[in-house]
Amino acid sequence: MEVYGAEERKEVMDVLETGALFRYGHEHIRKGMWKVAEFEAEVRKFTGAPYAHAVSSGSTAVSSILAAAGIGHGDEVIVPPYTFVAPIEAVFLAGALPVFAEIDETLCLSAAGVEAAITPKTKAVLVIHMCGAPADIEGLLSVCKKHNIKLLEDCGQAMGASFKGKSVGLHGAAGAFSFDYFKIATCGEGGMTITNSEEIYKNIDYVADHGHTHIGSNRGMEEHHVMGSNFRLGEINGAIGLAQMRKLPWMLEQNRKNKKYIKDRLKDLDGITFRKMTDMSGDSATFLNFFMPTKAQASKLFAQLAEDGVGGVANWYTNMYHFINQWDHVKEMKFPAKLAIHDVGAPQDYKNLKLPKSEEVISRLVSIGIQCTWKEEDLSSFADKLISSIKKVL
Ligand SMILES: Cc1ncc(COP(=O)(O)O)c(C=O)c1O
Repeated sequence: MEVYGAEERKEVMDVLETGALFRYGHEHIRKGMWKVAEFEAEVRKFTGAPYAHAVSSGSTAVSSILAAAGIGHGDEVIVPPYTFVAPIEAVFLAGALPVFAEIDETLCLSAAGVEAAITPKTKAVLVIHMCGAPADIEGLLSVCKKHNIKLLEDCGQAMGASFKGKSVGLHGAAGAFSFDYFKIATCGEGGMTITNSEEIYKNIDYVADHGHTHIGSNRGMEEHHVMGSNFRLGEINGAIGLAQMRKLPWMLEQNRKNKKYIKDRLKDLDGITFRKMTDMSGDSATFLNFFMPTKAQASKLFAQLAEDGVGGVANWYTNMYHFINQWDHVKEMKFPAKLAIHDVGAPQDYKNLKLPKSEEVISRLVSIGIQCTWKEEDLSSFADKLISSIKKVL
């Protein structure tokens, strides 16, 4: 969340003035305003998705697409060890079994990593488009097709990203986005799902609202084909998401310009290499990621940045929520209640898992958060400070 102003306030005030806080029904008070539905329409327009359904968070978006794609009890789902932990939790909570596979310099699951992790119980690959840029969708799709497994896309960090001209989230069975406070566009809290499939869309619609079909004008008498839960997005959050989506093209343009400036400044530093991009033009440019030559140098750089007072640079290797090394609770499958995996058994020895490529990549990773609001002087002083710290370490 970087850009917030009169547009968001106007959309929220529309809702507050009518008091129609619920996304369905209440036609008599809402004066024709359907903010969540408009938010979904804006996402369809921007992404080109035939279907979009808003939910309460990126986490519930992942849960919704897993359920809608038929992923559940005992199904193995291939996931990366580097991701915000939410999609891993969603797999466990679905009753499915996460199988961790290797990532590579794309920062996402690699086709080779996925291929090596496939077993007869594999039902889906849950690719996570990390740090705003697309994974190797072509490679992953070809492995999925070969083994007849589904590709699901967690685009939690990648609204605005695309691969070969098509939005992330539309390459496999369905895609899930987060609109939490830390994302390029936000609802405060919120999520979005998109898909090409009417059947999957309908299932998401049902699962996100206790099975309601949302047909007719008597909510209490709607049919229910399946059970669900409450993953609904409220009108106030939807109103903010709507205003934010309208600003997305501008935010992307600024991000791309600002990222290019910093990348150009870093380019000539001997020893650093950049994240492998699968489609440069599909980058939402929320992060500039580069690798130090060694893990020790990366660790030294983070210490140097702290000493030099350079902020806005993330160390995902030590972050408690982004890399498997810090996830003892996940490896020990700790949850207050019994999950399917406790009965079925873990598909891998999580505690002794060896993912050397992922370890090598993430331990050298330095991740700079790009801001769309940066002015020229902010950019040059940030780049100056960053380069000076890097030079002290290299
Ligand atoms: C890749 C990814 N998936 C899912 C989520 C969960 O989103 P939320 O915080 O909206 O539940 C996040 C949040 O950071 C994320 O980064």
